Amino acid sequence: MKIVIGNDHAAVDMKFKIKEYIESMGHEVINVGTDDYSSCDYPDIAYAACEKIKNKEVDLGVLICGTGVGMSLTANKVKGIRACVCSETYSARLCREHNDANVLCFGERVIGIETAKELVSAFLNATFEGGKHKNRVDKILSIEEGTYKK
Ligand code: RB5
Repeated sequence: MKIVIGNDHAAVDMKFKIKEYIESMGHEVINVGTDDYSSCDYPDIAYAACEKIKNKEVDLGVLICGTGVGMSLTANKVKGIRACVCSETYSARLCREHNDANVLCFGERVIGIETAKELVSAFLNATFEGGKHKNRVDKILSIEEGTYKK
């Protein structure tokens, strides 16, 4: 798969390690994050990454900031993006299987690198189950489109 990775100044070290880890899994990684520690704005990075997903240039995204929260808040404003902040593997797997999440977010200030690798592995190796879960994801999309009906 093609994976876009993005990070702000709070997650430079973790970004490099996770990029290498995803590549070691055989995926191609496109880095839209910052490579240095000067302060920058996470919405710029999250938006750049989500545009690539929206335009189908990549399959999935991984966004890392201090907490993962700013990245996820921004990503979820982009149409078609379902971003989840995770700090344990059950949610990282289920957000793909049940919610068809296309962006995984986490925080370098919150979790360690080994947990981060496990999250990424759970997320990238899981597949959307469809069926009743598709109906629910379709409802999320309809809210986005303004066509929601219970
Ligand atoms: C940067 O200091 C920090 O606010 C950012 O990385 C992130 O945690 C925001 O959600």
